Amino acid sequence: MNDRWVFVTGVSRGIGKSIVEKMLQMGVKVVGLSRTRNVVAKKIENSGGIFLRFDLHSIKNIHNYDMEMFRRKGIDKFDSVILNAGVLKFDSDDEILGDMFKVNFLSNVYLVEKLLSNDLLKEGGIVVGISSVSSYIDIEDADILKYSFSKYCFSGYLSYLRKKYFHKYRVVDIKPGLVDTNLVEGDVPDVILDRMFHKKPIESEVIANFVYDCIYNYVYIDGNVVIDDGYIYSK
Ligand SMILES: NC(=O)c1ccc[n+]([C@@H]2O[C@H](COP(=O)([O-])OP(=O)(O)OC[C@H]3O[C@@H](n4cnc5c(N)ncnc54)[C@H](OP(=O)(O)O)[C@@H]3O)[C@@H](O)[C@H]2O)c1
Repeated sequence: MNDRWVFVTGVSRGIGKSIVEKMLQMGVKVVGLSRTRNVVAKKIENSGGIFLRFDLHSIKNIHNYDMEMFRRKGIDKFDSVILNAGVLKFDSDDEILGDMFKVNFLSNVYLVEKLLSNDLLKEGGIVVGISSVSSYIDIEDADILKYSFSKYCFSGYLSYLRKKYFHKYRVVDIKPGLVDTNLVEGDVPDVILDRMFHKKPIESEVIANFVYDCIYNYVYIDGNVVIDDGYIYSK
């Protein structure tokens, strides 16, 4: 049987780490990237996959990346491209908006365009984006809005991809609520803490299992899925 391959961003911890563990447990090989090389990178490599130490903040790096390398390493096509890497920073620094836009939105656009133009996603394959429920939230707080804007744009890009490639690929936009990871950098504003107070965080494994089921199991979805407060529903 041919190897099954997925491409995952943001693998060093959190949701990305859980996705990698699920894939490896199910015998799927992984090309995974993050800035940090840690125990997850070793697991990927020990199972015959490829870890890329890569900073998505640099659009130039994505642009210049030699995608033919995957073919040279024996990967014909990926079953799925899982766009998971992301940052959420609470900081009054003006640069923060640009930082979040680059990692949460722009890097995904350049990465997908590069992978698709090199014909690296198999026909019937799936682009999975991990955006956020915060792209729906109407909080009048400038700090969370910066993150929400970037996720809103990312979701818009995923909708565009779905329309453009409806005959060729599926596009699943997963919008989690609060997840049990260490995503947040900086001091969380009170207005956000108040909203989160009543919420039970989702375990990152729940999202990883759902991603696996979308790609390899019975879950046939081509659209938006909210995973929040113990529920999974399309929206
Ligand atoms: N946690 C939540 O409550 C929640 C809710 C909704 C949506 N999400 C979304 O879920 C996704 C995963 O978040 P998480 O909660 O698992 O956060 P996390 O634990 O902080 O993991 C984020 C991952 O992204 C990678 N990453 C960040 N900046 C990067 C860069 N410049 N280049 C390459 N990789 C980078 C990190 O690796 P390195 O630092 O090693 O590069 C890490 O592996 C994000 O897109 C996030 O917005 C999370």
